[in-house]
Amino acid sequence: MCGIFGYVGTKNASPILFNGLKTLEYRGYDSAGIFIPEAGVLKTVGVVDGLLEHIGSNFFGTSGISHTRWATHGVPSKENAHPHGDCSSELFIVHNGIVENYQELRDRLTKKGHTIVSDTDSEVLAHIVEEHFLRTKSLERAVTSALKEVRGTYGIAVLSKSDPNTIVVARMGSPIVLGIGDGEYFVSSDASAVLGYTKQVIYLNDGECATLTPKGYRIFTLRHKKRTRRPTDIDWDIEEVKKGGYEYFMLKEIMEAPDVLADSARGRLVSEKGMARLGGLEDVKGKLKHVKRIVITGCGSAYYAGLVGRSMLEAYTGIPVEAELASELRYRSVVFDKGTAVLAISQSGETADTLAAIRETKRHGLLTLGIVNVVDSTIARETDAGVYNHAGPEIGVASTKAFVSQLEVLALLTLFLGRMHGMSKKDGAELARGIARLPKKMDEVLKEAGRIKRIAKKYSKYNNFLFLGRTYNFPIAFEGALKLKEVSYIHAEGYGAGEMKHGPIAMIDKSFPTVAIVPKDSVYEKMISNIEEVKARDGKVFALASRGDKKIEKLVDDVVYVPKTHEALTPILMTVPLQLFAYYVGVMRGYNVDRPRNLAKSVTVE
Ligand code: AGP
Repeated sequence: MCGIFGYVGTKNASPILFNGLKTLEYRGYDSAGIFIPEAGVLKTVGVVDGLLEHIGSNFFGTSGISHTRWATHGVPSKENAHPHGDCSSELFIVHNGIVENYQELRDRLTKKGHTIVSDTDSEVLAHIVEEHFLRTKSLERAVTSALKEVRGTYGIAVLSKSDPNTIVVARMGSPIVLGIGDGEYFVSSDASAVLGYTKQVIYLNDGECATLTPKGYRIFTLRHKKRTRRPTDIDWDIEEVKKGGYEYFMLKEIMEAPDVLADSARGRLVSEKGMARLGGLEDVKGKLKHVKRIVITGCGSAYYAGLVGRSMLEAYTGIPVEAELASELRYRSVVFDKGTAVLAISQSGETADTLAAIRETKRHGLLTLGIVNVVDSTIARETDAGVYNHAGPEIGVASTKAFVSQLEVLALLTLFLGRMHGMSKKDGAELARGIARLPKKMDEVLKEAGRIKRIAKKYSKYNNFLFLGRTYNFPIAFEGALKLKEVSYIHAEGYGAGEMKHGPIAMIDKSFPTVAIVPKDSVYEKMISNIEEVKARDGKVFALASRGDKKIEKLVDDVVYVPKTHEALTPILMTVPLQLFAYYVGVMRGYNVDRPRNLAKSVTVE
């Protein structure tokens, strides 16, 4: 996700800002920029070092704001890099978050004659602040008035040429921390960038703003109600801050699931109509209206997400859907009839097999779509249209929050396509309600982390696992097994529970535990039978079940309860306990779960 860093004091700001951006690099980004009122604006695409040649005595000022950008709207480019200026380049902003209503704001500003030079949602903030600044002549009041027009999330810092010693900041949904120095003050997206200068920090709360000058700081609300906040001493080191205090990025990213679910659906649900708005598919809506077949493809976790998507889309669009491993699809001599659309799922957007499959299907003249997390990645650029996850950068090698986001985007796609292909408004509204409630339900799932850790400890010594699921959760059995394999190196097999009698049951004994995904859904009784088969052969069973299911706990050795949700959305809630289970087992076995042996975050080679 984006990184913000600002300074106001008595020293030259440019090297301080540069160092701050270097510290924030770990957050993932594709471009960067700095604004110093007396010196001007610097921007670069790619790494922060691209700014270095300008940093130093000739780029001087005692205040400044800076930014590393993780693209959500608009490709990585100098025009889209922050800081963004107003029409007269009098004031500049840096922003972290998503402006949900940016299109209507952009249209209104353009009609009023504003020149908007980027494709980003963030730039509209600079022009709205400009409007209020011209009226109020107060940067503080201009910012608070402007933010009242904004829907979405922001962590923002604003600085103007006319008042270079005043930085105004505000927070709604994206972290902002103030660094309290001796006659100098800092603002950052996280404390890691200020730690080199001060350990005295104040974390702003949602709805709070602050004004920083060399003389001090003031904290207030959007309605200018004063807030008294005392600095706290942080005793974390920089590495701990980057991981948000978690031991590994993997756990931090699992814990981000509720926020990711909110971000991936932000501005995309039209709940009252039981529909979804997917801007990236607007241009191909006509073709999608007449699509006759969908082939979903990907690798690893992305492929398993595609298998869940197949069940969702089949159930609600009436379109024949298949899911195929990209490494197989690219070599199959498939007869693709006209009207087939290929949907590639890829967090990195760079996976070689998935890219090859897309290129091969494009050669057949098919419509190609993408569900991708990294903006402007190769798969995003080479598919005809697509949907970005907005899950933020995933640093751990194992896919966790990205997988959760992929499933939610597939549910949104099911709404988007379903309502074009006969899905009733009632069914659409029910699914939309389920999606809207996911963040809160995911919060409840994460509250089970302590219980899951205790269960992981109990099973961490076993060297073989069977994971079982059916229908929507059939792919989650494979994904849960993959997570365990990846970070603990234990042999784990995902299986369709209906297959037990056709071989796997021969493996079961007391040394071969089973993880069963058994929500109260249309195949619940079948899953209970499979669990009884395992127990009859002395196998241990750890079950993921629906809250309120009293029957299951008499049957199995361990159970974690998951809140009830729409049947098509159960995989989203069921997958996270398995991510936690794998995480804790891997850590208990002494492995670096962020960097598992032999694995790469993006497999760009075949
Ligand atoms: C998932 O935990 C793995 N790291 C891996 O299977 C990954 O999902 C696969 O390589 C696909 O990557 P992509 O989503 O970036 O295309």
